[in-house]
Amino acid sequence: MNVVVLGAPGSGKGTQAARIAAKGGLKHVSSGDLLRAAVENKTEIGQQVASIMAKGHLVPDEKVLALVTEALSQEDARSGWILDGYPRTADQAEALEDVISTNRETVDFVLVLDVDDETVVERTAGRGRDDDGPDIVRKRLRVFSEEMAPVLEFYELRYDIHNVDGSRSVDEVTESVYGVLGL
Ligand code: AP5
Repeated sequence: MNVVVLGAPGSGKGTQAARIAAKGGLKHVSSGDLLRAAVENKTEIGQQVASIMAKGHLVPDEKVLALVTEALSQEDARSGWILDGYPRTADQAEALEDVISTNRETVDFVLVLDVDDETVVERTAGRGRDDDGPDIVRKRLRVFSEEMAPVLEFYELRYDIHNVDGSRSVDEVTESVYGVLGL
């Protein structure tokens, strides 16, 4: 089973994706985690994207795609994957379709976690990541609302989209998500 999780910054994508991956035996691929690891390890991509991420902007499509493609092509992704944080733009969605069709795969579920902006600001304030200051979070929310509509349009034409109310407790959201995925 291959799953794409979409949602605003702080909507709980990472939290829910980790649970789904553990329960469903899927590889959890988080574009944000891949980028943060690249920054931490000072790889070539990491050095190119560090300041972009710190400002809350999206990093260039080809750099994220390189990291995501590598993660999805590894052996441990063969029994299924859950992608969190990617795609963020219509071009990324198209690039993902190319990668998975080359691998003779498909997306089985597109989940969208719906959460209002104030909840996001509160949640991320309690976490303390470098890009979690309220002004940067609001910038990330603006980027999300500008870029996500074309991604949703892209998926609506191809797949059923499952919206889940992500503003409830972690366990309540997980229960709904498991229901959608049949876990
Ligand atoms: P990324 O790491 O993808 O961050 P994000 O989408 O902004 O999302 P977060 O990781 O902040 O939140 P989340 O939805 O995973 O929620 P979480 O479970 O952590 O991206 C960071 C940056 O990398 C981007 O700004 C960009 O620069 C770059 N980037 C990444 N992907 C890219 C791409 N594809 N293209 C270009 N650039 C890209 O939860 C948040 C907090 O809330 C946690 O503290 C958690 O414990 C808590 N929480 C979760 N669920 C609940 C709940 N139900 N109730 C209460 N608290 C909860």
